[in-house]
Amino acid sequence: MIYSKITGTGSYTPERVLTNRDLEKIVDTDDAWIRSRTGIQQRHVRAEGQTTSDLALVACQRALAAANLTPADVDLIVVATTTPDMVFPSTACLLQDKLGVTNGTPAFDIQAVCTGFVYALSMADKFVRGGSARCALVVGAETFTNLLDWSDRNTCVLFGDGAGAVVLQPSKTPGIYSTHLHADGRHANMLSVPGAFCAGQANGSPTVKMDGGAVFKFAVKVLDQVCREALEANGLQIADVDWLVPHQANIRIIESTGQKLGIDAGRVVVTVDRHGNTSAASIPLALDLAVRDGRIQPGHKVLLAGVGGGFTWGSALISM
Ligand code: ACO
Repeated sequence: MIYSKITGTGSYTPERVLTNRDLEKIVDTDDAWIRSRTGIQQRHVRAEGQTTSDLALVACQRALAAANLTPADVDLIVVATTTPDMVFPSTACLLQDKLGVTNGTPAFDIQAVCTGFVYALSMADKFVRGGSARCALVVGAETFTNLLDWSDRNTCVLFGDGAGAVVLQPSKTPGIYSTHLHADGRHANMLSVPGAFCAGQANGSPTVKMDGGAVFKFAVKVLDQVCREALEANGLQIADVDWLVPHQANIRIIESTGQKLGIDAGRVVVTVDRHGNTSAASIPLALDLAVRDGRIQPGHKVLLAGVGGGFTWGSALISM
């Protein structure tokens, strides 16, 4: 039996930090409100001209270095993003060029908003298990602040930019035990950027629209469900899991999910305080930080769980 296993992680956040106090100068909000309602203290914002593939590039270079590999070893690139550099080519193709991968490696984007990384990991897992890839780069990268209306305090305080990446390679031992993906397009209006290009014009609105209360309830419900699905599929209890790495949208969503699952708060990785919600980048960013600070150790069982626009949701149970 061949599994796919994460052999390196990397992440990157732009240098520019936007604190809650900075936001107070832009929009009618305050630090205390943002902290108490979301847990967010700051977020990172891309530099002028910096694109999603630029952020992804650094995260991938760090992940490859952690795995003792070079771009020449890569034979699959999957990028999860909601904020591609352009309509096409895909961000994955642009990233491939920036990385200097010139061997014809397949490269494509996945769009599942904040669940994007879990979707991408699930796709890459199938390539590696099936024998068609031996070194996959799986990336979640976003310049999500591009989609914000900085005068809308309901949404602009929540999001940030960043990228996280993992290297997946074949292994005789797990590895990824299982992945579980879901979507329900009936909830499209709960969270969306309802705009598109049409005949050279931007049609609709190019910024995030959200029913925050409805998103909150839906997110807690499906995160709990999809974590339980992963545990059940592998005959495990939550006590068997060393770390939960959930999508970092809001500390109250994370805490409510943890309480429903019955996992100790000390075993839940939280980075929303320093990154805000970085959409598809949030899970690999959090995973990388917990690997690098030594909390997540080789052999640990880690449950990844995401939820996002679509609506989409999914989980992955992995052994590091
Ligand atoms: N600063 C100050 N006041 C604000 C702000 C702000 N940034 N935003 C809203 N308020 C005000 C509202 O206008 C409202 O005022 P009112 O009572 O005078 O009308 C008051 O605060 C309370 O607003 P609520 O919506 O009731 O606040 P709530 O406690 O529900 O928190 C929040 C709002 C943070 C958006 C919450 O609903 C939430 O976290 N929802 C989940 C949304 C989310 O995480 N989305 C991320 C994308 S989805 C994903 O990643 C899964």
